[in-house]
Amino acid sequence: MVLRRHVPENLSAFHRWYADSEIARLARYTDGPRRPDEIDRFFNARAIGPEALAMAIHVRRTDRLIGTCALSQLDGDNGSALFHITIGEKDAWGHGYGTEATGIMVAHAFGALDLHRISLSVFAFNERAMRSYAACGFTVEGRAREAIWRGGRWWDEVSMSILEPEWRQRQKIERRRGRTQFAETGDPASSGKPPVTEAPTRRGVMARITGR
Ligand SMILES: CC(C)(COP(=O)(O)OP(=O)(O)OC[C@H]1O[C@@H](n2cnc3c(N)ncnc32)[C@H](O)[C@@H]1OP(=O)(O)O)[C@@H](O)C(=O)NCCC(=O)NCCS
Repeated sequence: MVLRRHVPENLSAFHRWYADSEIARLARYTDGPRRPDEIDRFFNARAIGPEALAMAIHVRRTDRLIGTCALSQLDGDNGSALFHITIGEKDAWGHGYGTEATGIMVAHAFGALDLHRISLSVFAFNERAMRSYAACGFTVEGRAREAIWRGGRWWDEVSMSILEPEWRQRQKIERRRGRTQFAETGDPASSGKPPVTEAPTRRGVMARITGR
């Protein structure tokens, strides 16, 4: 797995992914997929635009584009950001790519961007996502009770977060065990190798956000 900057050509993949009702069910507050014009706006603002630090998720061995992940609402004053991820290619679910991408973004946020806290929201029925976040060190910090109506019943919206000292502690433990958190993913080509990312530096990100 490798994270690359999004390029304008990725728009057609976004159209496929976000028109899918299963992806909408798992990740969207509104029940039903996004309209094409909404996908255009989302891509321009949040994938290649300035509103988020978004990265394209590629399978390292084949370079296939399989999804997207992002840090949004980057708050330099309080050192916080929100994390989002969508593996849009459904045949790529459950192979470890999401967990690996999340781990790299978290490492980048704390290691390079010097953030203090990353949080996210996930619907309580999305067990795969919650397990993936937990595997990267996120813990549940609260629930908005029955905030989502989906599949004919109410579900909680779960808030999860990870703090920088918690991440450092996990890094220490993993180093002691002699492996990184990326060493056991489903991508044989990436096993044991350090994460590869083209993500920009803190200075670049903050300059984009603050204009300074
Ligand atoms: C959520 C998502 C990012 C997870 O990435 P992934 O590559 O599919 O997941 P991984 O292979 O890394 O596995 C994550 C965990 O879920 C488990 N898992 C896999 N399939 C599962 C399933 N059908 N049900 C429950 N858990 C499942 C895995 O065993 C693993 O847990 P473990 O580490 O405790 O063994 C990805 O599936 C996705 O983008 N889904 C669609 C959109 C979405 O839900 N986005 C998140 C919105 S908050």
